[in-house]
Amino acid sequence: MKKVRKAVFPVAGLGTRFLPATKANPKEMLPIVDKPLIQYAAEEAVDAGIDTLIFIIGRNKRAIPDHFDKAYELEAELEASGKLDRLAEVQHILPPEISCIYIRQPEALGLGHAVLCSQAIVGDEPFAVILADDLIDGGDKSCLRQMVEVYEKEQSSIIGVQKVPLEDVKNYGVVAGENIQDQLWKLSGLVEKPQPADAPSNVAVVGRYILEGTIFQMLKETMPGAGGEIQLTDAIAKQLKQESVYAYEFAGRRYDCGSKLGYLQATLEYGLKHPEIGTAFREYVSKMNNIK
Ligand code: UTP
Repeated sequence: MKKVRKAVFPVAGLGTRFLPATKANPKEMLPIVDKPLIQYAAEEAVDAGIDTLIFIIGRNKRAIPDHFDKAYELEAELEASGKLDRLAEVQHILPPEISCIYIRQPEALGLGHAVLCSQAIVGDEPFAVILADDLIDGGDKSCLRQMVEVYEKEQSSIIGVQKVPLEDVKNYGVVAGENIQDQLWKLSGLVEKPQPADAPSNVAVVGRYILEGTIFQMLKETMPGAGGEIQLTDAIAKQLKQESVYAYEFAGRRYDCGSKLGYLQATLEYGLKHPEIGTAFREYVSKMNNIK
């Protein structure tokens, strides 16, 4: 049985919707309360049994490797000043058995191109792709863990999906296919950003994928599409003509942290349940509501 051991994190986009915050920093380093988005994504991968994290980094390359590397001076300072809880936190960003690999995407030619940059490391194994700006709170079971469990049964590519209001389908890739079980579709097509009247469903692709290695050949054959970028959904649309591809509607709440509104919603909700400041923050927010 094939196992999913590697996850690819494309973090080389320009993040134009968050300028100027993303001028010198990748958007995946934006924090939700006290952890950057990329750390939530890495933790989700580790929870799903992944042991190799592959980051596709761009021109603002340093912050992400720095975040996962050992920070000698900081650790010495925290130790000297007796801040041992903080020291433990920065020493355990990832478990020691996890490997991190960094690949440079020379030009931001699209998500599909970013994924193609990982081919030499992934080889022909099945692998996960996580878009860290889609923050997903899966509750008891992370979104990727749910998807890995489905992969273990189906042994075919699986795309994470969510139902969205019909008027919003124009912002997403949308799936066509047969709803074969409660949360599972067998795909017959994928349409990028359709108008509501033309949409085959309101089941939208979000930033979680488990892909068979055959996707690399499809990506190589994919011409630049919308915005001159090589689109991952175009390659998946080719893949599903040759092999089974499924869509899985995960249980959990997704925050689109690539948009300012989604980012603020995540900050609010993660703030309210934060173990350190949650109670005080809740009090503050309820007073704000009273003012209104
Ligand atoms: P987005 O479509 O969100 O683009 O990319 P973006 O550049 O990050 O943000 P905006 O729209 O300009 O604000 C989806 C994911 O693909 C990665 C991004 O980092 C993000 O995680 N990506 C995109 C790459 O790694 N390389 C690319 O060439 C494009």
